[in-house]
Amino acid sequence: MNKPHVFVTRRMPAAGLDRVWEACEAEIWPGEMPPPYETLLEKVRGVDGLLCMLTDRIDGQLMDAAGPGLKVISQMAVGYDNIDVPAASARGIPIGHTPGVLTEATADLAFALLLAAARRLTEGVNYIQEGQWRTWDPTALLGRDLNGATLGIIGLGRIGRAVARRAAGFNMRILAYSPSLTPESAAEVNAQAVDLETLLRESDFVSVHAPLNSHTRHLMNASTLALMKPDGILINTGRGGLVDSSALVAALRSGVIGGAALDVTDPEPISLDDPLLTLPNALVVPHIGSASVWTRDQMAQMAAENLIAGVTGQPLPHRVPAG
Ligand code: GLV
Ligand code: GLV
Repeated sequence: MNKPHVFVTRRMPAAGLDRVWEACEAEIWPGEMPPPYETLLEKVRGVDGLLCMLTDRIDGQLMDAAGPGLKVISQMAVGYDNIDVPAASARGIPIGHTPGVLTEATADLAFALLLAAARRLTEGVNYIQEGQWRTWDPTALLGRDLNGATLGIIGLGRIGRAVARRAAGFNMRILAYSPSLTPESAAEVNAQAVDLETLLRESDFVSVHAPLNSHTRHLMNASTLALMKPDGILINTGRGGLVDSSALVAALRSGVIGGAALDVTDPEPISLDDPLLTLPNALVVPHIGSASVWTRDQMAQMAAENLIAGVTGQPLPHRVPAG
C-alpha cells in the first residue's frame, strides 16, 4: 500500500519524526529558518497531510495550493492563531494541535519571568558585568516580595490554572478573569473570579494566558495598562499580539506600570533596536515557554499522532474546534 505523502515544515524531535517516517512518505524542510511562504505553496502541492509550526502562515490560498487531497493540518503547538481556522473548516480539513503537554512547562516559564522581574535578576547580572558590585549594599536592587502580593491571571485555562497552583505555593492572593469563569471554577485553584478592571486595578503582577484572536488582540493597550498599579508588573507568555507593544513601551517609560517580562513579542523575532530590549524594567526571552526536552518530545509525538490519524482517515486525538 502506498504511504500517505506529508510535508513537515521543520526538523522536530525524533520522538515525533520517527513516527512520521514510519507511517508516511515524508519530506522534512531542512532549513533552520521556516520555509518562505512561496516555497511552502510549492511544497504542499498534492500532499495528504501537513505538519506545521506557529511560524508558518497557513491560509486558504495555501490549502488550495495543496489541493483536494489535503486531509489534515497538524500544528506542533497549542496556539493556532497562524492558521485560518474558518478557511480550513470551509474545506473540511481538520486541524490538530498539542494542548495539555506544554501546560506545566509554560507555567514554569511564566513563574520564572515573574520571579526574575520581581527580584530584578537581569539588572543584577548587568550590575556585576558593569563592575558596580563593590560591596553588599543595603539599598541596591531592591525588588518585590511575592509573599502576600496579588497575582492577576487573565485567561484561567489550563496554563492559567497551572500558574495559579504555583502562585498558591508562594502564598500569593490570586485574582482571575476569563469571559465565562465561574467563582467555583476559580476557587478550585484558590483564585477569586473578578472582572478585568478589578483584576488590573488590584494586582501587583498581571499574567496573560488568553489565546490570541480578534477579541483578545491588544487586550493590553494604553487604557488597560493605565488601570494597572504604577509598580505593577506585566508577564506575557501567551502571544505577542495580546499586548500593544508601543503602548507597553510608553507605559514602561513613563512609569504607568513598573515592569514587564515577556516570552512573546509582536513581531517575532523582536527587532534588535526595539526599546523593550534596552529598558531596564523590561525582560524579554525568545518564545521558550514550551522549550523543555520532555515537553518538546511530547509535542512532537502529539503532532505526529494527529497527522497520522488525519492522513489515515481517523478522528484526530487533539482537534481544534471548527471555526
Ligand atoms: C507555543 O507558543 C504554543 O502555542 O505551543
Ligand atoms: C493551553 O493549554 C491553555 O488552554 O491554557
